[in-house]
This record gives sequence, structure tokens and C-alpha cells, in this order.
Amino acid sequence: MKEPLLRARDVVQEFAVRGHGGVHDGVVRAVSGVSLDIYQGETLSVVGETGSGKSTLARSLMHAPPPKSGDVAFQGTSLTRLHGAALRDARRAMQMIFQDPYTSLDPLWPVARIVAEPLVAAGMRDRAKRRQRAGELLDQVGLDISVHGARRARELSGGQCQRVAIARALAASPALIIADEAVSSLDVLVQAQVLNLLDGLRTSLGLSYLFIAHDLALVKQVSDRVAVMYLGRLCETGPADEVYARPRHPYTVELLDAVPRVEQAALGKRTGGDLPGAGGTAGDPASPASPPSGCRFRTRCPRAQARCATETPVLVAPPGSGPGHLVACHFPVPAPAPSSAPSPESHEISRNEEQSAS
Ligand SMILES: Nc1ncnc2c1ncn2[C@@H]1O[C@H](COP(=O)(O)OP(=O)(O)O)[C@@H](O)[C@H]1O
Ligand code: SF4
Ligand SMILES: [Mg+2]
Repeated sequence: MKEPLLRARDVVQEFAVRGHGGVHDGVVRAVSGVSLDIYQGETLSVVGETGSGKSTLARSLMHAPPPKSGDVAFQGTSLTRLHGAALRDARRAMQMIFQDPYTSLDPLWPVARIVAEPLVAAGMRDRAKRRQRAGELLDQVGLDISVHGARRARELSGGQCQRVAIARALAASPALIIADEAVSSLDVLVQAQVLNLLDGLRTSLGLSYLFIAHDLALVKQVSDRVAVMYLGRLCETGPADEVYARPRHPYTVELLDAVPRVEQAALGKRTGGDLPGAGGTAGDPASPASPPSGCRFRTRCPRAQARCATETPVLVAPPGSGPGHLVACHFPVPAPAPSSAPSPESHEISRNEEQSAS
């Protein structure tokens, strides 16, 4: 198999947290041993509720800041071996787009300047050339520099503003774009337009994407592969078609079940309370309900058994799964075909069979 564009292995990220006395007396393990690969030209989506560690993972992949432990290799080189200008170059090749473009872009700068600024950093000194390139970049995102170039970010609609953020990211000639909830705050119609734009740019520019979202339904159309994250750990990963059609982790099933219930809620129907997966929260990785050992999902899991409290599940291929489909669960949801539906005991997979989420 070809070398991935980005390879992360056992990435751990922690934060010191203050107690009532104002001293560092605890640690939040926001990312807890995540491994993933992103290949050239593909879109990997990382999905999970608020607080599951997605943004922390994204920053760790860019070494901003570096993870507490584990390794991230980009274009074949471990980022721990890069320093100074070389690390800045690698980070420039991994551009991030954030949820709220109004705060991630300078609201007082004209659009043309926002887009041209990374060109200065890249060494393009000629002002006329920068203006021309900014025009090309805006054109690529469906904006006209003669119409929008002099306007300020705060004067634009949310969708236009996100297009400017994309043009600015493209100015750095990235190989990978990390879109952290980049369409989450947009109207449904605008979401679809921006997702289509990003998907088109992937093909025309040969980009790769890491899409981060709290809503599995949102990224369905654009994902080649998905990785579902809960309280710092990946619990299911695989080809998008396979995971959406045959989810095997109880949390993924819950996330997918939440979609119709959210639609019902929008229609004013009774939903039965909490709506996990629809912008709900994964809880607190520092809380007693999220101990380091055992399955972190067990307090919510309808399939939990005694073993789930003591043994941490790792990503393995469950019986009956398709190629590349891995699940971290001692008792995964049976595969749909009755003949391949295994008993819980047959899921007892040795930790030695651990595989990475590649
Ligand atoms: N700088 C920080 N200091 C302390 N805790 C943090 C910090 N950043 C994130 N966290 C905690 O780490 C967990 C994961 O947060 P985050 O990565 O933002 O999740 P997500 O993007 O999935 O919503 C949360 O419990 C959050 O409170
Ligand atoms: S390991 Fe146990 S608690 Fe965790 S998801 Fe699987 S069945 Fe549920
Ligand atoms: Mg986030």
C-alpha cells in the first residue's frame, strides 16, 4: 500500500487542569492513543460529540502544540524531527479552516488582503502578482475580486466568509486541509454548497481533507473514510459506505439513530430528552465516569458487560466486517446478515490482534 500523506500513531494529548485552589492538580487526557492515516486525495472524517477531543487531535496532528506522546509523520517525515522553518513549512502544507470564519479572519481587513497575506509569507514580493493570485484564489472559491476584494469579512455572509477562509488556506498551497466543524454553523443549503466546493477543489487541486464534525449525517456525502471518536479514543473506523450501512460500535449506532430523532425534534415532536450525537456532549474526560482503563462508553452503552469496566477495547476487525472496518468494542453490534451474526463470545479478540486505524 502507498505511503500515507499523514500518519499518526498512538497520539496522546493532555491538559493540566486547575482545582479550586488554583493549582494544577489534575490532568485531562483529551486524546488517548489515536492512530490514523490520511492518504493523498482522500477525505477522512473524524466525527464525535462536543468534548470528544476532535479539535485537540487536529491541533496535535499539526504539532500546535506537539502531542504529549506518540508520533505524527507528514509526507514521510516525523514532525518531531522538524524544527524552525522546516516545521513552519510542514504546518503551512496542513491548513486549518475553523467553524467561525468571523473570528478566524481579521474582520477589519479587506478580503483581497486576507487572501494575499499568506502569499507574502510564502515569499511573493511583487504586489501586482499577489493581487492577481488573490483574484485567482477567490475565483476558485466562487468569489469575484472586483466585487468582493475591497469588502471586509464582517460585511460578508457566513458562506462567503467561509469561502474567503478557504481561499486563504489555498494561498499556502496546502497538501492537506483540516476543516474543523467548518460548515457546522452555516445554513443547511449553504453547508451543501461549501461542502460541494471543497469536494470539487479536492479533485481539481489534488487535495486531501481531514473533516471534523459532530454530525455523522453532515459528512456522509464527502467522506471516503470515517473515524468515530468518543472521549479521546477512536471507537470505529472504516470506509464511509461500510460504517454508515453497517455500524458495529454501539456509539456509532447511537449517533446514526440520533439523526432521525433530531429531524423529529425540528418538527416539534417529542424526542425523549437528550439527543446524543446531535451537538450533544461526550462528557468530561477528567470525570470519574471516564477512567483510563475499560471502555469509556460503558456508562452509556446498552451492550456493556463486566469485562467492559476492566479491559480497554482496541480497534480490531470484528467478525463479518468488510475490508478496513475496525471497531474498538468487546461486544460489537452483530453484522446485519443473520448467517454472520456472531455470539458475544466469538467477539473475544486478543489484544495481540490490535490494528491501527489505517
Ligand atoms: N486548552 C485546554 N485546557 C484544558 N482542557 C482542554 C483544553 N482544550 C480542550 N480541553 C478539554 O479537552 C476535551 C476535548 O476538547 P476538544 O478537543 O475541544 O473536543 P471537541 O473538538 O471534540 O469538542 C474537553 O473536555 C475540553 O474541555
Ligand atoms: S466495549 Fe462494552 S461498553 Fe464499550 S462499546 Fe463495547 S459493549 Fe459497550
Ligand atoms: Mg472542536
